[in-house]
Amino acid sequence: MNGQVLLFVCLCALDAVLGQASYSIPEEMTRGSLVGNIAQDLGLEIRRLIAGKAKIYSRNNEEYIELSREKGVLLVKERIDREALCAHTALCALQFRIILENPIEFYSVNVQITDINDNAPSFEKNEMKFKISESAIIGAKFVLERAVDFDVGNNGLNNYELNPTDHFALKLQNNADGNKNVEMVLQKPLDREREEQMSLVLTAVDGGEPRMSGTMLIHITVLDANDNAPIFTQPTYKAIVTENSPAGTIVATVTASDADTDLNSKMSYSITNTLDNVRKIFNVNKESGQVSLIQNIDFEKSKHFQINLLASDDGGLTDSCKLIIDVQDVNDNKPEINIMSKSNVISEDAEINTVVTVINVEDLDSGDNGIVKCFINDNIPFILTNSENNFYSLVTDSELDRERSSEYNITVMCSDEGVPSLSSSVTLTLHISDVNDNAPVFERSSYEASIVENNTPGLSVFTVKARDADWNQNARLSYMLEDSSVNGVPVSSYVSVSADSGVIHAVRSFDYEHLKEFNFRVRAQDGGSPPLSSNVSVRVIIQDQNDNAPQVLYPVLTGGSVLAEMVPRSADVGYLVTKVVAVDVDSGQNAWLSYKVHKATDRALFEVGLHNGEIRTVRQVTDKDAVKQRLSVLVEDNGQPSRSATVIVNVAVADSFPEVLSEFTDFSMHDKEYNDKLTFYLVLALAVVSFLFITCLLLIISVKVYRWRQSRVLYHSNLPVIPYYPPRYSDTLGTGTLQHVYNYEVCRTTDSRKSDFKLDRAASHNVLVMDPSSTGTMQKIHSERNILDEPDSPLEVSHLRFVSSSAVNICLVMPGSL
Ligand SMILES: *[C@@H]1O[C@H](CO)[C@@H](O)[C@H](O)[C@H]1NC(C)=O
Ligand SMILES: *[C@@H]1O[C@H](CO)[C@@H](O)[C@H](O)[C@H]1NC(C)=O
Repeated sequence: MNGQVLLFVCLCALDAVLGQASYSIPEEMTRGSLVGNIAQDLGLEIRRLIAGKAKIYSRNNEEYIELSREKGVLLVKERIDREALCAHTALCALQFRIILENPIEFYSVNVQITDINDNAPSFEKNEMKFKISESAIIGAKFVLERAVDFDVGNNGLNNYELNPTDHFALKLQNNADGNKNVEMVLQKPLDREREEQMSLVLTAVDGGEPRMSGTMLIHITVLDANDNAPIFTQPTYKAIVTENSPAGTIVATVTASDADTDLNSKMSYSITNTLDNVRKIFNVNKESGQVSLIQNIDFEKSKHFQINLLASDDGGLTDSCKLIIDVQDVNDNKPEINIMSKSNVISEDAEINTVVTVINVEDLDSGDNGIVKCFINDNIPFILTNSENNFYSLVTDSELDRERSSEYNITVMCSDEGVPSLSSSVTLTLHISDVNDNAPVFERSSYEASIVENNTPGLSVFTVKARDADWNQNARLSYMLEDSSVNGVPVSSYVSVSADSGVIHAVRSFDYEHLKEFNFRVRAQDGGSPPLSSNVSVRVIIQDQNDNAPQVLYPVLTGGSVLAEMVPRSADVGYLVTKVVAVDVDSGQNAWLSYKVHKATDRALFEVGLHNGEIRTVRQVTDKDAVKQRLSVLVEDNGQPSRSATVIVNVAVADSFPEVLSEFTDFSMHDKEYNDKLTFYLVLALAVVSFLFITCLLLIISVKVYRWRQSRVLYHSNLPVIPYYPPRYSDTLGTGTLQHVYNYEVCRTTDSRKSDFKLDRAASHNVLVMDPSSTGTMQKIHSERNILDEPDSPLEVSHLRFVSSSAVNICLVMPGSL
């Protein structure tokens, strides 16, 4: 600088500046371009120039311009860059002098360099990056880099443009130094979710002609702000879950999305139900949104669930949705049988359709799983009727009979229609109570028992037994005799029945000869109310016992009048002397008689037919044989033990009656030789008894005479009777015995009782009247067979016993005194 100043001073001092020329040329002219005709402009001649050795003098030896002396013009010697020469100086000029020698002359030349638009605006960096939060507010400013244009003036930087301009606008601020600050201003909110990256182009333009420009890329990354709430994919979700699903079963998955990124989109799910117990049953996975079960669900408790779900991001924004869960029924409940009313006992006469039990059935399941049908076991007289709404009545279907079945186990089985079906059952025990509807039934339709005669009174004969199908009191039987009579006597005097046991006792001793059998009825009656009864006929057969000795009907010998059979001495062998006739009132074997010679004067002369009692001669009668023959014939029955009677048969062997008489005068004496001592004592005893009897009789008579002065004269008949050979007795049988079907009637007349009503009938038969003194044989018969003096058989009973139906009537007229 100081140099310049010095040079300028020197020039001035010289004061030799003769002229001045100015030129203006644009920069960047090609080398050799003409700047100006200096010779002309300065008024110099070429020769002078050449002669003066004209040359350019510049202070800083800048040789942008050269001088062509020959042509007298200034030419561009070097590229002239205005920007390099003058930078931002608006006026840029080259000043130099042209110096001539001989004489020295100075000419001043000023070449002004004008700008041409040769520089485009440019940015230092060709891109800029911004990170702007999407939440940046409108009006936010972002400073941009300025562009540079080396040109000046109009050619210099003129303006900026930004593209696109959706969100940002440019704002230029003039600085004090004339530069402009370039700012980008947010005009419209950013949305990362819509546009995360933006590229803008900032263009700087100059004012030159043509215009030139430079660009810079602006990258904007929109940073996320938590400006988006999560959003569930559906406002309401639906899911179905079957009941009894195990814990952990995933029911549904809810999903929410969040348009934000990163943390702002990190979501967590939760259940917000508060009042119900949903949170005890369901769980939602915080991250995945899977809703799962934490415990079993029971359709019967809840059929639906509504779960309120919340999704929230980290920024606290939320969304909610509903999850509606329908629980599907599973057939997991058995039908429940409830007995509403029940009778344990029903009477067997209950009418049909009597309600026994009312049952209610419930099944907690729904649909088919809850439809229940009930049945009862077959073959019982009950049916189950479905009234309504799962109410069933068990009613009787037919008549009941306790005797057939006294209790029923009724199983009610109920099953639902689920698959598989569930069922349950209950068993009712129903007792049938008794009604007295069964009469007693005897074990047999009739009874027959036999009893041996002469039983002891009170002997139990047999037992009747009846059964009653009813129960307890209705089956408690008692036995009794039906009123009836046997031979005019009430049957109760024959037998009695034990009321409890049905044992039949004989009340009295039976006599076969009097009563062979009798019938009566026994009734059995139960204890019901009213009682039922039935009766059975009982037949009692009395069995014979050999209690009667044979009774000799012929011949009857008496001590007084001796009857003798006559046998002519001329009789042949086998001559029928007589026939001993005996009967036995017993029957069967007990009446089967046999005859034997017990004692005989001459055993060799007579024999007795064993069965027919015929006495026949065995040999020819000779003169040596005694006239008086005496046979003692023993008549024996076949009973066990046997009973017997003896009869004395006197036989006179003579041809004429006087001969017999003479002999028989001492027959009785002779007879005594045969009698043993027993006979003697017997007679003696009888005499004593007779004496005592007569004494008593006299005593009684005298007492009676004393009392009733007008006493009756006792009819005293001394008519004895001898048995008469019955007309129907036949010895054609050859046995000499009466068949047991033959009975005979004995009529007795007593003077004191006047009850000989049979005498009239008896009188129609032949009666042999014998000498009353001849009682010897009869007495003997009495003592042996013991009929008439039985202690409990008074004479009239004995009399009656013989008055049964008879084919042969024999009347015995006995003396009133024995
Ligand atoms: C009923 O059941 C009871 C007890 O189970 C049993 O003792 C009885 O014999 C049964 N009755 C019938 C008639 O089956
Ligand atoms: C005995 O039973 C029969 C039927 O077996 C009956 O006809 C009769 O009347 C009954 N007699 C009495 C007295 O009850």
